[in-house]
Amino acid sequence: MHVLKALIVTSTLTFPALGQLDSWAKAAGLKYFGTAVDNPSLNNQAYMKIVRDADEFGQITPANGQKWSNTESGQGRFSYGTGDAIANVPKQTGQLLRCHTLVWYNQLPSWVSSSFSRDQMQRIITSHIQNVAGHYKGQCYAWDVVNEAMEDDGKFRQSPMYKAMGVDYITHSFKTAAQTDPGAKLYYNDFNIERCCNAKINATLVMLKTVIAAGARVDGVGMQGHSRVGKSPSKRELKDTMAAFSQLVDELAYTEIDIRHTKLPTTAADREQQAKDYLEVVGACLETPKCVGITVWDFTDQYSWIPGQYSGEGEACLWDKSLNKKPAYTSVISLLQSAASAGLRKTPAPTAPVSTVPLCCGQGADNHDTIDLISEQPRKLK
Ligand code: XIL
Repeated sequence: MHVLKALIVTSTLTFPALGQLDSWAKAAGLKYFGTAVDNPSLNNQAYMKIVRDADEFGQITPANGQKWSNTESGQGRFSYGTGDAIANVPKQTGQLLRCHTLVWYNQLPSWVSSSFSRDQMQRIITSHIQNVAGHYKGQCYAWDVVNEAMEDDGKFRQSPMYKAMGVDYITHSFKTAAQTDPGAKLYYNDFNIERCCNAKINATLVMLKTVIAAGARVDGVGMQGHSRVGKSPSKRELKDTMAAFSQLVDELAYTEIDIRHTKLPTTAADREQQAKDYLEVVGACLETPKCVGITVWDFTDQYSWIPGQYSGEGEACLWDKSLNKKPAYTSVISLLQSAASAGLRKTPAPTAPVSTVPLCCGQGADNHDTIDLISEQPRKLK
């Protein structure tokens, strides 16, 4: 047994002064602290040494490897090379694999983007999920079954799947995933559903209630959590949102955390602010019984997707480009340590069926739809 784990098991009062993210997250009562990993970084040995350290990261998400464009680039032509290259890491280390993602409007091969009838689209989705989730059956702690189905204004995103099937594509995707890999936790995953209250969160709650009422199993909601230093949601706002989602599903997770600076280069004060912003997210998860874990969308600025997506912005991760830990890392560790010592976490209550749709902040959607809460700007992926 690892020294740190041994100490945690043998004493709940004495903790070592130093430790790593996943060890402390587990000691604090979470299931994991994880990271996304992308294929180009697999041959960087210094990077992979950190990835494979199961005390640092207890969970891995393929950043791109399992997406539709990589797994079924031509209809019925399935390939798993990029997904397997990442999935093989947790197979060797014992880390959890969060699988990402089965049905998403983006990184979709052009053949899926043509116009299909309802029946044709249903068959396309069935085949994609049966093959991809079938290939990874038994390996995924969780699947992001449907990703980013809603727009910021609360309308359904006009994806090829929605255009062909309406909301039924979401129900069908969850039902097919449940039949294919019954052991995986099935998640709905999206961005801008972190900060209470906005139209998107309330619409997402309504959508989930509809899908669950239609007989689909939705185990969890993944809140991506891409945000900006100094404008990131507060712990209070984050907890309010999770309280609403907790009424519908058994698990919640922050699935793609990065907190980017909008002005570069950064000052020491900027980096301290970033450290504080990370604490709000980690604190919100720790204080929400159903929040199971936190995944950062890569841990080093060397491989972050942010500079490629938001020109002039970046340094969003816990480690810098040279793999040095930043103040944000140290603050997250300290918070996890104090949570472990304080024994903060409570056992979550199971989800009882609710008759009404819960609303963010426990109040009517109408009261909040018009409030502009500086949420993440709508974005188009490059
Ligand atoms: C990003 C990857 O990190 C990039 O490498 C890729 O070019 C675009 O997609 N929300 C998601 C993730 O659910 O899949 C996205 O990942 C980031 C936004």
